[in-house]
This record gives sequence, structure tokens and C-alpha cells, in this order.
Amino acid sequence: MRKNIPFRIYLDKHSDLKYLRHKVISLIGYGNQGRAQALNLRDSGLKVAIGLPKGNSDVKLARKDGFEVYSTGEAAKRGDIIAMLAPDHLHKVIFRKQVMPNLLPGKTLVFACGFSIHFQLVVPPEFVDVILVAPHAPGRVMRELFVGGKGVPAFIAVHQNRSGIAKNTALAYAKAIGCTRAGVFETTFEDEAIGDLFGEQAVLCGGLSELLKTGYDVLVEGGLPPENAYLECVHQLDYIVSTIKSYGLAGMFDRISKTAEFGAYITGNRIIGPRAKKEMKTILKEIKEGKFAREWMKEYEGGMKNYNKMKRQKATHPLERISKKIRMLTE
Ligand SMILES: NC(=O)c1ccc[n+]([C@@H]2O[C@H](COP(=O)([O-])OP(=O)(O)OC[C@H]3O[C@@H](n4cnc5c(N)ncnc54)[C@H](OP(=O)(O)O)[C@@H]3O)[C@@H](O)[C@H]2O)c1
Repeated sequence: MRKNIPFRIYLDKHSDLKYLRHKVISLIGYGNQGRAQALNLRDSGLKVAIGLPKGNSDVKLARKDGFEVYSTGEAAKRGDIIAMLAPDHLHKVIFRKQVMPNLLPGKTLVFACGFSIHFQLVVPPEFVDVILVAPHAPGRVMRELFVGGKGVPAFIAVHQNRSGIAKNTALAYAKAIGCTRAGVFETTFEDEAIGDLFGEQAVLCGGLSELLKTGYDVLVEGGLPPENAYLECVHQLDYIVSTIKSYGLAGMFDRISKTAEFGAYITGNRIIGPRAKKEMKTILKEIKEGKFAREWMKEYEGGMKNYNKMKRQKATHPLERISKKIRMLTE
């Protein structure tokens, strides 16, 4: 049955680091999230160890940052709290081979995304706590804000509460990485996994990048110089986004010219209208049914041929050359 969680914002005053003190927090992975979380956890006075495969290129950086680095299995063995901060598509194999054999009652598994638990790529034993602390920003932003005394919002969730204090541990972890400074929301692994995939596919990464690229293509094919097309359709995006973040969509419309505003009202829904909504609903259904998760794991296990091909195609689109040129001239 779907768990309904009342909307509530958790702040610093609702969380206590005592649930993490005297514990070893092993972070599996030292990438985007791993490095930022490790630095923030240590600055919060907690004991951190890093787990990476032997010879991994991030080992040097983690050692330079002053952390003790172990093999993934050894870090899982040493950790009371084990945070899975390796890429989601590797969780299944890392968990089975290196983490699972080192789990004991009393340990806690932390995830930064609901994906591998919700889609059962990882099925933890019932004797551990399983929690989610999913920051809502890239690691670099989280670290920069933390150093400046601020934080990024996050979702927390509890999948297994063997100890009876799993939610307190999640709140303490969120506090230690700075998220309760900005606000933490309780959710479920399911909602976080589905919302995250849908948001990044349909709107923020997939939908938006195709919108920008198609707008650029249409202007260039319509005879405008590529530089103009880039400046009109892509380069100003950050002004619009920061205005939306500060004032909402209606506030953004209040802050653009009346001509832009009227044009947007009569044109926007010709692009993103009922057909796009219908497609979005199909995408959501596929995500919910696990179709995307199966397809992604099949792609990874099959050697990532399609992934690599699509990545190459995207990277060689003419827009990228213009983007680089404009960046060099403006930065
Ligand atoms: N990126 C974000 O903005 C963001 C935001 C919220 C949540 N998350 C979640 O955070 C988690 C980590 O994502 P990320 O973006 O930080 O990934 P990432 O930047 O790709 O970093 C992953 C790290 O794991 C390492 N790694 C690879 N195989 C490993 C193994 N067998 N054992 C230990 N470490 C291994 C990688 O090393 P190599 O690079 O050398 O392979 C790298 O250091 C994911 O669950 C993701 O969904 C990410």
C-alpha cells in the first residue's frame, strides 16, 4: 500500500548529530556526491572513510583531501554507516560482491537516490537499516553552499527501520551534509525514484535539451547565423531560470517584455501542448512499471553501445561548437 507522508520541513533544530557520532561513515565512491558529502561530513566532526576500487582515478584526490581510502569491500567492512555513492547502475554488482558480504546487524545503508532500492537492484538483508538522503543539487553546489554556511534541500526516506532510529539517522546525515540548513522533506524511496527519473527525463535534462537544440536548429535552418541562434535560444536560459527560481513562473512573465510575454502565452502551449502531455504520461507509466530501469540495466550489461552512440551524436551537434565559441568570448 502507498505510504502517505504528511508534508513537513525538517531543519537543523529537528536533527541531532549524536546519531552519527562515534560511528565510521564509509562512502562508497568519491565522485560528484561522494567528495562533497565526505568533506561536509568531516567538517561536521564525523569520521569518514572512502571506499574505491584499486587503481581508481579518484583514489589520489581522496588521499590528497586527507581521507583514508580502502578497497570498496574493506570500507564496507569498516563502516557502521555505508553510503552508496557509486553510480546507480553499478549498485547491483557492488552491493552483491563488496557490500553485502560485509553487512552486520546494526549497520545502516544510505542511498542518495531511490533508484536501486525501489527497482530492487539492491535487496538488503532485513537486519540493517536502509535510508535515503537525496540532496537536491550537484555535489559541487552542495559543498560551496556548505562552506558559506548554507545548504541545499534534500529528501529523506526510510526503507527499513531495524534499529527503530533510522529516521533520526537520516536527519542527522542530512544535517551533517548541510541539508537541514535549507530544508529536508520526508518521502518514500518509490516517490523519490519515480519523481527523479521523470523530472530528469521529461523536463530538466531530456525535455529541456531537446527543446533548446530544436529551437537552435529551426533558426539556423531558417537562415539565421548559428551564433545568433545560440544566443536567442540557449545562452539566456540562466536569466530565465534564476528569475523563475526567485519569483515563480508568473513572476518571470512579469519581468520580461510585454511582447515576449504575449508571444509566450499564445505560442508556448503549441509546443508543449496536449500531445506532449500525453507523451509525458506514457513516460511516467513506463518509469513506474520499471520499463526504464530494465532498459538501462540491459544497456549497461550489454556494454553501453547505444549509450555511447547517443553520447557521441549529442557531443558532435554543431550547437556544441558554437556554445564553446560563445563561452570563450563571454567568460
Ligand atoms: N550527481 C548529482 O548531482 C546527484 C544528486 C543527488 C543524488 N545523486 C546520487 O548520488 C549517487 C552517486 O552519483 P554521482 O553523480 O556522485 O556519481 P559519480 O560522480 O559518477 O561518482 C561515482 C563514484 O563512484 C566510483 N566508483 C565506481 N565504481 C566503484 C566501485 N566499484 N566501488 C566504489 N566506488 C566506485 C566512481 O569512480 P570512477 O569515476 O573512477 O568510476 C566515482 O568516484 C547516485 O546514487 C546518484 O543518483 C547524484
